[in-house]
Amino acid sequence: MHESNVRKRKRQTEEENASQNSGNESSQRRLQESPANNSFMASIALTTVLFALLCVYGYYSSPINAVEITGVVEVPFEGSFALNRKLSKGKRIPIHAPESCVEASDKKIYLSLHDGRIVCIHPSSDGEIGAGKVENITTGIIQGAATTSDAWGHGRPLGLRLRENSLYVMDAIYGFYVVDLPTKSIKILVKPDDVSPPMKFPDDFDITADGKTVYFTDASAKYPIPLLVQEVLEGSCTGRILKYDMVSQKLEVVRDGLCFPN
Ligand SMILES: *[C@@H]1O[C@H](CO)[C@@H](O)[C@H](O)[C@H]1NC(C)=O
Repeated sequence: MHESNVRKRKRQTEEENASQNSGNESSQRRLQESPANNSFMASIALTTVLFALLCVYGYYSSPINAVEITGVVEVPFEGSFALNRKLSKGKRIPIHAPESCVEASDKKIYLSLHDGRIVCIHPSSDGEIGAGKVENITTGIIQGAATTSDAWGHGRPLGLRLRENSLYVMDAIYGFYVVDLPTKSIKILVKPDDVSPPMKFPDDFDITADGKTVYFTDASAKYPIPLLVQEVLEGSCTGRILKYDMVSQKLEVVRDGLCFPN
């Protein structure tokens, strides 16, 4: 009984193997000969050719003129750059992408947001910084002003500096302006096309101690901030440092050919 079962199983296995082999052979033959398979291979070849053509078309029609960046120095995450978790315990305030932040002596914080607004975060009633109400200082839109790009329909303040009641702003869309905090009125000081070639990406700045001169960066003379991805992909060096004299209102280029001076 036991032996015959074993033999039966063995025979079954042999038969199964044999039928599988013959199945494999015949299916291989089918694969080689079937018209369906030929058209499958043809469609793969066609897709590959079309994809290659698309890549070539994309390469030549792209506005991006990629350049190789050389001389990049790797900085190890050590010393002052060592990883830490100091910011992980903070309280989250629901505002989007504040790029610049200044703290006033009265414990108010001014922030420049992604939607173009500048807001002030008041201290709480018991004096805790950043814990009070959020007040709109600007709307983010300066009607009728010259722009580096109209794609977003609002500004993008990047750099902020406070001098008494004047909040100076470098805006990637509108250029350089100053907000008088008591009245919230805006005065434009440098427009994007005040220099040739026009600024495309006014970015950040500093004011000399005597308050008379502003040095600022135009990160790109080619792509405005809504096309930041193109700028990053291309890697060309069209950025500049400009100098603005607040007294004579004279504007001059101090350095050009810089690689995205952010
Ligand atoms: C500030 O401006 C935003 C965007 O326009 C608006 O939604 C919000 O209600 C304003 N906040 C106050 C306190 O007026």
